[in-house]
Amino acid sequence: MKGLILSGGKGTRLRPLTFTSAKQLVPVANKPVLFFGIESIVAAGITEIGIIVGDTKDEIREAVGDGSKFGAKVTYIEQDAPRGLAHAVMIAEDFIGSDSFVMYLGDNLIAGGITSLVEEFQELGCNAQILLAEVPNPEQFGVAELAEDNTIRRLQEKPAKPKSNLALVGVYMFDRKIFEAVHRIKPSARGELEITDAIQDLIDHGAEVHPHKVRGWWKDTGKLEDMLEANRIVLEAYDIPRSPLRMGTNSHVEGRVGIAEGVELINTRVRGPAVIGAGTRLENAFVGPYSSIGPGCTLVNCEIENSIILEGSEIRDIDGRIDDSLVGRNVKIVQSESKPKAHRFMLGDRSEVGIL
Ligand code: G1P
Repeated sequence: MKGLILSGGKGTRLRPLTFTSAKQLVPVANKPVLFFGIESIVAAGITEIGIIVGDTKDEIREAVGDGSKFGAKVTYIEQDAPRGLAHAVMIAEDFIGSDSFVMYLGDNLIAGGITSLVEEFQELGCNAQILLAEVPNPEQFGVAELAEDNTIRRLQEKPAKPKSNLALVGVYMFDRKIFEAVHRIKPSARGELEITDAIQDLIDHGAEVHPHKVRGWWKDTGKLEDMLEANRIVLEAYDIPRSPLRMGTNSHVEGRVGIAEGVELINTRVRGPAVIGAGTRLENAFVGPYSSIGPGCTLVNCEIENSIILEGSEIRDIDGRIDDSLVGRNVKIVQSESKPKAHRFMLGDRSEVGIL
């Protein structure tokens, strides 16, 4: 089997971060979301992986390289515009050849990896396997309606009136038949070739499509709340190594805290689960549960909880706790000394700031 990871798209729901960075590279527990996907495909014994890339191709290539650091061989396949998931399958046909494959949306995270799912697909010998998860907002996903015998009655992409609360998870397994379907379907109302429509087309043509209900958690990390939740879930379960750190007097590390090289704590308390990136300095600070502080950050006289702070950011002299926040790379949040006493901002397009 081969792997096909989709890592294009514009990531509009994570702006402004995605103006300068691919959504799949936003980190959870200080690791790009995309890396979790690559690792779970490799863990399932699949080492030939194609990655579909778009506008952010240089950045993705730079982060993933030739795949050798994951024990995989990565081939990049360029998509000229976000023309849909089924279009991505279409342009991957030469790469996939006559193999079956697992298609993984690069911004999805799924508990426990995909090894048992890949095994199930191979044992069943069906044409496709889809994963379904119960969600409170099915209208934002592909939705499956199942018959009483658990076969699929109908699949619809983002229906206004969903027939069930079962969303299609962004991990799919296919044999070659999917290539026939992606050539038969027409673009949807949003102008894209939808993979949901291609799978419905397979069913309409008598192919065997097996639905598997996912019991553990699953997250599509396209939005801020989902990123923070994924960060919480991963930190909860993740065993991150703790490197030796420089810890001044009056500093404490409580609970499970992953610490990279060269971290310095001065009069600071870190309460896990949390992770602190390499070379980060914390002084007179509190880092509370479910925080991922990236490498090279400086946090002085501030309190942070349930947040993701990306590399190189500086937070200084802030009254009141920073909570539920996602802060990009090299951001500065500091109290200014100059008069008049005022809030001063330089924010990118679509930034969001909540003030006490
Ligand atoms: C895509 C699929 C949708 C699926 C979702 C899972 O949506 O079109 O069927 O439920 O991924 O993450 P998109 O993220 O492109 O809106």
